[in-house]
Amino acid sequence: MFFWIDLVLLSGFWVFGLSNPDGFLSLSCGGSSYKAAYNISWVSDNDYIKTGNTTTVTFMEGTSTSSVPIRFFPDSRGRQCYKLPMRKKDLSSVLIRAKFVYRNYDSQNSPPAFNVSLGRRITSIVDLKTNDPWIEELVWPVNEDSLLLCLIAVKGRGIPVISSLEVRPLPSGAYRNSIEGSPNIILRRSYRINSGYTNGTIQYPSDPYDRIWEPDQSFAPFHASSSFNRPTRLSSFNNITENPPASVLQSARVLARKDRLSYTLPLDTLGDYYIILYFAGILSLSPSFSVTINDEVKQSDYTVNSSEASTLYFTQQRISKLNITFGKIKFNPQVNALEVYEILQIPPEASSTTVSALKVIEQFTGQDLGWQDDPCTPIPWNHIECEGSHVTSLFLSQINLRSISPTFGDLLDLKTLDLHNTSLTGAIQNLGSLQQLQQLNLSFNQLKSFGSELEDLVNLEVLDLQNNSLQGSVPESLGNLKKLRLLNLENNNLVGPLPQSLNRTGLEVRTTGNPCLSFTSLSCNNVSSTIDTPQVTIPINKKHKKQNHIAILLGVSGGALFATMLIFGFTSVYTRRQRNKERDITRTQLKMQNWNTSRIFSYKEIKSATRNFREVIGRGSFGSVYHGKLPSGKQVAVKVRFDRTQLGADSFINEVHLLSRIRHQNLVSFEGFCYEPKRQILVYEYLSGGSLADHLYGPSSKSLPLNWVSRLKVAVDAAKGLDYLHNGSEPRIIHRDVKCSNILLDKDMNAKVSDFGLSKQFTKADASHVTTGVKGTAGYLDPEYYSTLQLTEKSDVYSFGVVLLELICGREPLSHLGSPDSFNLVLWARPNLQAGAFEIVDEILKDTFDPESMRKAASIAIRCVERDASGRPSIAEVLTQLKEAYSLQLSYLAASAHTD
Ligand SMILES: *[C@@H]1O[C@H](CO)[C@@H](O)[C@H](O)[C@H]1NC(C)=O
Ligand SMILES: *[C@@H]1O[C@H](CO)[C@@H](O)[C@H](O)[C@H]1NC(C)=O
Ligand SMILES: *[C@@H]1O[C@H](CO)[C@@H](O)[C@H](O)[C@H]1NC(C)=O
Ligand SMILES: *[C@@H]1O[C@H](CO)[C@@H](O)[C@H](O)[C@H]1NC(C)=O
Ligand SMILES: *[C@@H]1O[C@H](CO)[C@@H](O)[C@H](O)[C@H]1NC(C)=O
Ligand SMILES: *[C@@H]1O[C@H](CO)[C@@H](O)[C@H](O)[C@H]1NC(C)=O
Ligand SMILES: *[C@@H]1O[C@H](CO)[C@@H](O)[C@H](O)[C@H]1NC(C)=O
Ligand SMILES: *[C@@H]1O[C@H](CO)[C@@H](O)[C@H](O)[C@H]1NC(C)=O
Repeated sequence: MFFWIDLVLLSGFWVFGLSNPDGFLSLSCGGSSYKAAYNISWVSDNDYIKTGNTTTVTFMEGTSTSSVPIRFFPDSRGRQCYKLPMRKKDLSSVLIRAKFVYRNYDSQNSPPAFNVSLGRRITSIVDLKTNDPWIEELVWPVNEDSLLLCLIAVKGRGIPVISSLEVRPLPSGAYRNSIEGSPNIILRRSYRINSGYTNGTIQYPSDPYDRIWEPDQSFAPFHASSSFNRPTRLSSFNNITENPPASVLQSARVLARKDRLSYTLPLDTLGDYYIILYFAGILSLSPSFSVTINDEVKQSDYTVNSSEASTLYFTQQRISKLNITFGKIKFNPQVNALEVYEILQIPPEASSTTVSALKVIEQFTGQDLGWQDDPCTPIPWNHIECEGSHVTSLFLSQINLRSISPTFGDLLDLKTLDLHNTSLTGAIQNLGSLQQLQQLNLSFNQLKSFGSELEDLVNLEVLDLQNNSLQGSVPESLGNLKKLRLLNLENNNLVGPLPQSLNRTGLEVRTTGNPCLSFTSLSCNNVSSTIDTPQVTIPINKKHKKQNHIAILLGVSGGALFATMLIFGFTSVYTRRQRNKERDITRTQLKMQNWNTSRIFSYKEIKSATRNFREVIGRGSFGSVYHGKLPSGKQVAVKVRFDRTQLGADSFINEVHLLSRIRHQNLVSFEGFCYEPKRQILVYEYLSGGSLADHLYGPSSKSLPLNWVSRLKVAVDAAKGLDYLHNGSEPRIIHRDVKCSNILLDKDMNAKVSDFGLSKQFTKADASHVTTGVKGTAGYLDPEYYSTLQLTEKSDVYSFGVVLLELICGREPLSHLGSPDSFNLVLWARPNLQAGAFEIVDEILKDTFDPESMRKAASIAIRCVERDASGRPSIAEVLTQLKEAYSLQLSYLAASAHTD
């Protein structure tokens, strides 16, 4: 239901914005809504931020008193963020203008300093001691449908405060010319100078984009030049991408006499800068001149032609001041306007695997850790440290984790993992993939066994296992950790001699507080005095399930012989149990082998096929999907189940049994599985063409868009796959999560449905619905589910209808990019398509589709998304209709090829 709330928020903005200039958003921080000059609507910021206190500050400005609202943030922990809605269009940028005012509102006479971030980047250090008010202007390349602007307190530097926030759309493509990586940079304004103009600033409505153009008398050597202000008709100023207003171009600074025309501009910080010079031929002659920036000649002979406007773009690296000089060649040099911006790189995002793993871990903790947006930037989350965009440290303690879940194994960049005092029990597990790990602190838990993966942590330097319940002897394999410097085993229940491989220089092993543990354990002198009540339990009953019943507490007097006996007894029972377990699994595996051709993989094989789970290619509803390559060269997709979703052995085997019987050319085929204790892994064929979602919305959607006939082919293929699940397989299967990202393409663009069959088949042939474990995805979920809490085949038909609408309209099911009434694809497309309004068809398809074919596809799509399930067609009927639409389009293409 979250999207309705968003919608209300957005529409609040739109209602206010009715007569507002298009796309303007003007927030009065801590103030109320009002309409200013030229119909600019200022709105209260209440809907855009939840934190902070508000007040109004009154101060003298010249001879009059001014009064402005402000919002301040006494709770100075973390970030205080405004969430600004963005509307993405191609190559669009917005100007964000934030005004910070202190003016001694708190009567403390101590202006604060703090940082400001935009998205993932800290852009500015605002210091109200030097300027009050302080105005920041930032150009943001719109690439998401919302943007966070945050104030970040600096310790000891006072309370962040803000007064207004403005968003102004800029001309399409503006401020991207010749800057490398332009979609990944923020521009921070240093100067925007209206050359030759001395009578105040120019802003909206003269500049429809509401940029503030400063008069230039305070910048140039005023005495050395004259200014011209001449309204003229400029034939081609309109084709400058930045679209400077005519009123700015009609004035120029022109060199007088023999002097140099030179702008000397100090800069805030050492950095990279972007410079735009604007010229307009407002005089009847065409001057030629050189352009020199910081002593480097950039243009040796540049001509400004009469009645033409032009621009020059430059980037300067690592500078802290700027000197722009125009040298005379023919007639006197001139310049009409200039802009200077600091170039700020947007740091890369943390990998999505890391982010989702951390989110899952946050859920495990049962606490709100405040983990939002990107873990590393603009400031790292609590409990986390980063290097660049990599999460390298995680510190959690005093919480209840209980076990080391497989999710931790997804944090591949970790160098430090600290889980002390988190109630961990059982074995040390799921960390084998953390090849970078240097420090592992699992102290003060109730861990019982070393597990088998520690030996894989080849970079481990410090391993702290003190104060756990580790039993038995220390595994020989720890000796393989060549970089280990400190191994702390204090206060456990360990016995026996330490492996000699741990007796080496440069490695400190701490062993006190164990019953009997040392390199020469048989003497056991060091613990003799610490245990008052000698007590021995000898494990006899083999049927005991839990290992902790095998308590071994060693008495004082027993001496060496007794200890040896105990150790022997313990290890033999333990190995016997292990062996039994293994035998059980082998039996099941043998049984499974009889079913079909799908293979059984060992965990080792899976590990080597996926190169130790290196390349994540997706994240399913139940875990990560990795790319793999079998020794035969065949590529596979390997799905690893999360702990929480792991099934009991019986269910897993049932499902694998079911999966291996489903074979259809339009279903992703099941290659095999791995089933070992605590490991449930499914291996599927790998499809190199990516998902339908990639093709509709990914990078290739622009360069290689799918045409109508390919879209229909994909729809027909996917419908065939679903038809098989519904009507061809035994038992019949409801997919429950039909969506574009679950329709995959092979290299020949054949579509196959994936992610079916897990925990959701009909249990009996006559059952008509499933009631448990709804998965679904927002935007695709059958609306009837909310009232009936049941999913049927018609729910799949509904979801498939949404996919058809996406193919027709080329947009996602829920999207903030258009007007508010277009947010929900189904609600928006249904009436339009019913009315035959093909304007909503994907623009890329324009003029290339047979209207009859489109009508047929649209009509079946609309019937699929009927609210009432009984009104929806069966998937078989959908398939028939789609085939007809497909052949109509084919004959249309053939016919138009003839007429060409
Ligand atoms: C302000 O909006 C009203 C309609 O809402 C319009 O009639 C008027 O011309 C606008 N004024 C300006 C200065 O744009
Ligand atoms: C901010 O508001 C909170 C709650 O309204 C209040 O308890 C607190 O005293 C205020 N802080 C300041 C500095 O005004
Ligand atoms: C914030 O600003 C201070 C200077 O006021 C600077 O030293 C610091 O690195 C900035 N960044 C963060 C994350 O605080
Ligand atoms: C400067 O602008 C003001 C109004 O904005 C106008 O009254 C005045 O005449 C202008 N001065 C010059 C020299 O153009
Ligand atoms: C603007 O138009 C002129 C002539 O009409 C042309 O020479 C120039 O390349 C154009 N500039 C841009 C940025 O399109
Ligand atoms: C600016 O650059 C010009 C040409 O390189 C030089 O002659 C002039 O002295 C410089 N001005 C300043 C203030 O550095
Ligand atoms: C001015 O015109 C000349 C000749 O047509 C052309 O070579 C030059 O590029 C033009 N200058 C600019 C800045 O467009
Ligand atoms: C450890 O190794 C050294 C030499 O490798 C040996 O002299 C020493 O006795 C060993 N220590 C123990 C307690 O076994």
